[in-house]
Parts: sequence; C-alpha cells; structure tokens
Amino acid sequence: MNFNNISTNLEDGIYYLTISREDKMNALNIETIAEIGLAIDEVYSNAAIKGAIITGKGNKAFIAGADIAEFANFSSSEGKQMAQKGHEVFNKIECCPKPIIAAVNGFALGGGCELAMACHIRIASDTAQFGQPEVNLGIIPGYGGTQRLARLVGKGKAMELILTGDMIDAEEALKLGLVNHVVAQDELMVTATKLAQKINKKGPLAVAKSIALINAYYEDKDGFEMEIEEFGNCFNTEDFKEGTNAFVEKRKAEFKGE
Ligand code: COA
Repeated sequence: MNFNNISTNLEDGIYYLTISREDKMNALNIETIAEIGLAIDEVYSNAAIKGAIITGKGNKAFIAGADIAEFANFSSSEGKQMAQKGHEVFNKIECCPKPIIAAVNGFALGGGCELAMACHIRIASDTAQFGQPEVNLGIIPGYGGTQRLARLVGKGKAMELILTGDMIDAEEALKLGLVNHVVAQDELMVTATKLAQKINKKGPLAVAKSIALINAYYEDKDGFEMEIEEFGNCFNTEDFKEGTNAFVEKRKAEFKGE
C-alpha cells in the first residue's frame, strides 16, 4: 500500500506504522487518520502480521495532535465528522485482536496522546511529553481523550490534565500509569520490538480473547460472564492442545492461532 503521510513495514511478523509528517510534528490531518485506518485494516486482515508498533518519524514528536491549521476553519458539522472518523479509527486500534504497541518518541499531545491511549501498551522514550492541550484552543479532546485518559490515570488526574492542558514528562506519565515503560530514546524501538516479539510467541487466540475481555470491562458488557464463556471456548482450540502438550513434553509451544 502507498501512503502519503505514514510509512509501513512488515518485519518478522511485526507491522511498523510510522506517522511521517516530521515537519509538522507528525500532526494528524484528516488524510493521515484515514491512512492509519487503512493500515490497521491490514493488521486485522493480513495473517502474516502478528502485532503492530506505532511510532512517529524523527526524534522530536510522536504526534503533536490533530492538524490545527487544517481544522482551524471547520464548521460544527465538520468538527463532528472529524471526531467521528477519529473515533472509528482509534476504536479499531483498541479492539484489534492483535497487540498494538505505541512507541512514544517525543511530544504526544492531543490526538497523539489519544492515539497512544488507544493502543494496548505504551512505551515512552525519556524525552516524551504527554498532554491534552485542547482547552488552549477552546476545544475539548475529540479522539476519545476524555474517556481513555480517565480510565488510565483516574478521574482526578484526568480532570487536572484536561482542564489545565498541562504537559507531563515521561517519568510522570509512568507514575500515573499512562505509560507502561520509559526507556532511553535509542532503546525505544528495540524495547517495543522485544515486547511485541514476546507477545507474538503466545497463543494468538488467547491474546485476542484477552484483549477483548479486558476491553469488555470498559464497555457495557458482562465481562465476567464473557470470561467464563471464552475460557471454555479456549479448550476447543488447537492452540490449547499445543500449549498444554508442549508443557508436558517440556518443549516450547508452536502456536498456529487455530
Ligand atoms: N497542527 C499543525 N501543525 C503543527 C502542530 C499541530 N498540532 N504541532 C506542530 N505543528 C507545526 C508547527 O506549526 C510548525 O510548522 P511550521 O514550521 O510550518 O511553522 C512545526 O510543526 C514545528 O512546530 P513548532 O511549534 O515550531 O515546534 P516547537 O518545538 O516550538 O513546539 C510543540 C512544539 C509541540 C510544543 C508545539 O508545536 C505545539 O504546541 N503544537 C500544538 C500542540 C497542540 O495544541 N496539539 C493539540 C491539537 S488539538
């Protein structure tokens, strides 16, 4: 696939998706959001892809938010449409049955912080900065930030961050639970890749079910009932037979996702 604003690369089962508008701090214009959506469709449909890592080009910004110059003159209905499209793509990331890791290499502001939060796991470089600065522009987070930030860091801190628009550094983000790990910038992609490789060796069906079940807690669903049902369903899979046989035979399991 050819894209104008992102680049993609599949290596050893890991799909690297890089937002590539470096001169604009990788800001998300409408076309970029659409391209991310198409790339995530590829993650869903391509059996060779076991997991994905999303990062930003360069070492300054992951994504400095939605493209302010583009939406500055939008009408109310255009604004709503913009949010709708962003929600569709970010929900697709959050619900993806394959693990998606954000490798946050710099500013993750507004839509950038929101995209990182839609991913399943976040690893930040020690230079990363996070924030939802929309109030400075007279708007609110529009790509799920009011919901996902509160879920990740709790209501009180989410209120403070969104109402002040303040930025926090990577260490503070780690303390708050906004990111899983902080590493030196030159270690970022290696760390994200190792984590993706580790997960990719697990039973793919079990990984997919785990993602869906953890997400269920935040949806209007009975996650406990779903867990009972899906736990039972695991016993019908080849992966279950392979995993348990491998344990008994004292060897490493080779899962097929069947
Ligand atoms: N939308 C559009 N363009 C953006 C952008 C955004 N969200 N963030 C940065 N850019 C552009 C700048 O306009 C500038 O473009 P130019 O060279 O054509 O003038 C370029 O990226 C570099 O940014 P600059 O502001 O010069 O870099 P900086 O190092 O001084 O500051 C930031 C970096 C991230 C702190 C600053 O760019 C910023 O505050 N950006 C907006 C963040 C924001 O409000 N995001 C939420 C949007 S809803």
